[in-house]
Amino acid sequence: MSSIEKARAELDSLRREIEEHDYRYYVLDDPVIDDSQYDQLMKRLLQLEKEYPQLVTPDSPSQRVGGQVQEGFKPVRHLAPMLSLGNSFDEGELRDFDRRVRAALAGQSVEYVVELKIDGLAISLVYEKGIFVRGATRGNGEMGEDITQNLKTVGSIPLRLRRPVDRLEVRGEAYMPKDAFADLNARREERGEPLFANPRNAAAGSLRQLDPGITAQRRISTFIYAIGHVEGQALPNHYAGLQWLKELGFRTNPEVQVFDHISKVIEYVNSWQQRRFDLPYAIDGLVIKVNSIEQQEALGFTAKSPRWAIAYKFPAEKAITRVEDIKLTVGRTGVLTPTAFLTPVAVAGSTVSRAVLHNEDIIKKKDIRIGDTVVVHKAGDVIPEIVEVLVDKRRGQEREFIYPDHCPECGTQLVRAAGEVAHRCPNTQCPARNREGIFHFVSRGAMDIEGLGPAVVTQLLREGLISDAADLYSLKFEDLIELERFGEKSAQNLLNAIEDSKERPLSRLIFALGIRHVGQTAAKKLAEHFGSLDGLARATEEELLAVYEVGPKMAESIVKWFAQENNIKLLNKLIFAGVNTAHEETSKTSDESLAGKTFVLTGTLADFTRRQAKAAIEARGGKVTSSVSKKTDFVVVGENPGSKYEKAQSLGIEILTEEKFKKLVN
Ligand code: IVH
Repeated sequence: MSSIEKARAELDSLRREIEEHDYRYYVLDDPVIDDSQYDQLMKRLLQLEKEYPQLVTPDSPSQRVGGQVQEGFKPVRHLAPMLSLGNSFDEGELRDFDRRVRAALAGQSVEYVVELKIDGLAISLVYEKGIFVRGATRGNGEMGEDITQNLKTVGSIPLRLRRPVDRLEVRGEAYMPKDAFADLNARREERGEPLFANPRNAAAGSLRQLDPGITAQRRISTFIYAIGHVEGQALPNHYAGLQWLKELGFRTNPEVQVFDHISKVIEYVNSWQQRRFDLPYAIDGLVIKVNSIEQQEALGFTAKSPRWAIAYKFPAEKAITRVEDIKLTVGRTGVLTPTAFLTPVAVAGSTVSRAVLHNEDIIKKKDIRIGDTVVVHKAGDVIPEIVEVLVDKRRGQEREFIYPDHCPECGTQLVRAAGEVAHRCPNTQCPARNREGIFHFVSRGAMDIEGLGPAVVTQLLREGLISDAADLYSLKFEDLIELERFGEKSAQNLLNAIEDSKERPLSRLIFALGIRHVGQTAAKKLAEHFGSLDGLARATEEELLAVYEVGPKMAESIVKWFAQENNIKLLNKLIFAGVNTAHEETSKTSDESLAGKTFVLTGTLADFTRRQAKAAIEARGGKVTSSVSKKTDFVVVGENPGSKYEKAQSLGIEILTEEKFKKLVN
């Protein structure tokens, strides 16, 4: 066997293995390997595909990482219109629906399937010969938008079916789990970006990204609930259809029940009124469908919706309470966040006692005053929010919240940059910023020091045992054992966890430093690109901009951070403590034919996606950057090149046509 045939065979079995694990993880919720074993398989797959870019297939699990940035979304016509459902809001309306169904079926007995109504956005997925070829939004029901590249990044959507089917279109809901939504908004708040109002908007916003790489970072999941079109498969009823979808590899919702009487349907619907708040995703009601396909066909459709199905919608959960106080907290980047403290009240399954107000503009716009009676709800069943002030309830004692001019923690004059909604404390030594910075340093995505939550950090600061994150590494057993709530065992465990954290990858350390605009993904890129903390510290703005994902804001922020004396002190302490500051190279191929060469890609290549071209260059030790400068060695030019082509010509940089490029990487 030639080496390429060997690679092909290995790729084939690797892909099958990864698909099987995806299925077990996403659909059966029963993984048999852990994350690191899975990562190993994926790493091997990516490595082989890097070596043999010509063997990359559109349904390879590697295609989930998010390909080229798109220019827009193509409109697509659905194979059959995507209808919506009629709504019902109470028992009476459900009984009316049942009467209509029975009357039309002239007394036949009827079975109903009841499903959860997932609060996300409707999607349509088309498979040809078992391969995922197109995914679209619902749009206006007739025409949707082609979001195939983004949907490929969603782990629960199979890129290849577990059984061959000639042509299949399925429909379902894409959604963002509640915890992913809360995390995403927390990160956006920290970066001063606008927040998503609810998980549905967050899911829609994530799937309508022109850069699939961004979608890939968002946690989107799916439940498939209908077959839109199928060839060569007869299914007796909807329930059997759902079972079949699961066998094909789709994620279907487990909370589905079949009933033979509307009273039982109503009982089941009511059982979800409170239980729904315990689900890890938001639902806004239930959907009731006639089970038999024959009966569905007999019932048919009105202009807008099927006569054989109806939605039951939960009443919106709201509660009335009082604003007892408004307080400000200072985050690690200095952003001030106002929070309303409320008289505790039950909303959407839990007690709410505070609501984040985000910024001064929101307080002003909603005219929220201390002492006000307000209506609260939970955005997407998760985040408590003040919906409106009941102005009629004012008694004259309410107090307007005056935004301070100075930081409530350190007294420094606050700044509000033009175009930004947030006030910031500019004092890099502000005790609140320092404390929040240490919380971040030890947190899960960062240095991940177990047993070191905000409470313990606050305690250590208060006792004067630490003044910055690096001081954690000089804590002693004798110091800890003296502290309240610490015993011998917990003290030793904490010291061990701190010691372990010294071995974290460089990317974690970079993220842990809390440099504004540097998230986890950027930290990884920076670690790979510069190879050491020292390398990053010395990088100029121009050099930073040469890193694929780094924009001007981030570059400026990094340079500023490393120019601050107290930060350099912190770094020196970390290095002295023995914290790992070097990037560990992942296995490389021996081909170094393009080592030291810098490439820029422009225009569309016929035989490579941008990612494949990049992979081919990197596999040979070369580097790809996004802008042309004197340091660029080659500009690869495809169809419709951009201004980079002209710039390369004016700088006299060697231009490679696709033909020449192929020779170089083959
Ligand atoms: S069935 C022709 N089942 O609710 C009937 N819809 O207006 C197609 N939805 O746009 C819909 N969960 O996005 C169905 N289990 C479920 C659902 C569901 C959520 C959404 C769907 C649709 C809207 C109904």
